[in-house]
Amino acid sequence: MNLEGKTAIITGAAGNIGSATVRLFTERGANVVAVDQQSSDFSALMKDGRCAARIVVQPADVRSPDQVAAYVETAMEHFGKVDVFFNNAGIIGPMKLLDEYTLDDFRNIMDINATGVFLGLKAVLPIMYQQNAGSIINTASVAGIAGSQGSIGYVASKHAVVGLTRAAALESAARNVRVNCIAPGPIAGPMIDSVDRGLGRYDTPDRMAYVPANRYGQPDEVARLVAFLGGDESGFCNGAVYTIDGAKTAEI
Ligand SMILES: NC(=O)c1ccc[n+]([C@@H]2O[C@H](COP(=O)([O-])OP(=O)(O)OC[C@H]3O[C@@H](n4cnc5c(N)ncnc54)[C@H](O)[C@@H]3O)[C@@H](O)[C@H]2O)c1
Repeated sequence: MNLEGKTAIITGAAGNIGSATVRLFTERGANVVAVDQQSSDFSALMKDGRCAARIVVQPADVRSPDQVAAYVETAMEHFGKVDVFFNNAGIIGPMKLLDEYTLDDFRNIMDINATGVFLGLKAVLPIMYQQNAGSIINTASVAGIAGSQGSIGYVASKHAVVGLTRAAALESAARNVRVNCIAPGPIAGPMIDSVDRGLGRYDTPDRMAYVPANRYGQPDEVARLVAFLGGDESGFCNGAVYTIDGAKTAEI
């Protein structure tokens, strides 16, 4: 799946899934604007001969309309278009039951995971409408499809991402712009480590037994799904939620 010549904006680019996606996209020939609020070092990747494409690192907080506008402007200034937008930054938030979950906890996670996705859509969609082309992939979660205990803000925010995806897809489909979301189950890395610590299963021998596949996904596996949805081979995929979860959401 070739992404040669495409321009992609990837938020949460310094993180586990985001950085794997930056790597895969550049390996497949895309230009990437790598957005995160924390610093990321892609210098090794940029020197890698296989990565003919360029990476522009753009610090931004996805909660800030000005900083969101700035990462889109950066993409336009450097590459003149936005073909793919991986709207991916997010946090897990506190692992607490509802009676301990504060209003500030809730507002903070909604601000990053839901409002941050909304602001990204608002900034990128007008450009894609002008181009009459584009593919957006929002990152939801299996927590956007079903509930779980101990992370009510996360569950609510990821359900919001599914809703944003469907509504935006309906407004965009006739303009040849696609908006899908991915719903990963547990992906090996720091986020699921903190969840498992919060739930007390981090050090247990059957830590992953709740996943039918009996393993966690790898960030590369998620990146390949994003590349499929971002690329031309998924041209009729729109408004959908793509689970990538080792069969977790197939269970009753
Ligand atoms: N890891 C999992 O098991 C899993 C499962 C389902 C969904 N997800 C979702 O996948 C996405 C990526 O998660 P990850 O596992 O790579 O986590 P991660 O913590 O490794 O990466 C998330 C990145 O988002 C960035 N970020 C957080 N708040 C930000 C803000 N306000 N502005 C800009 N950047 C911000 C962080 O700095 C970090 O680099 C998230 O939306 C997460 O909810 C992860």
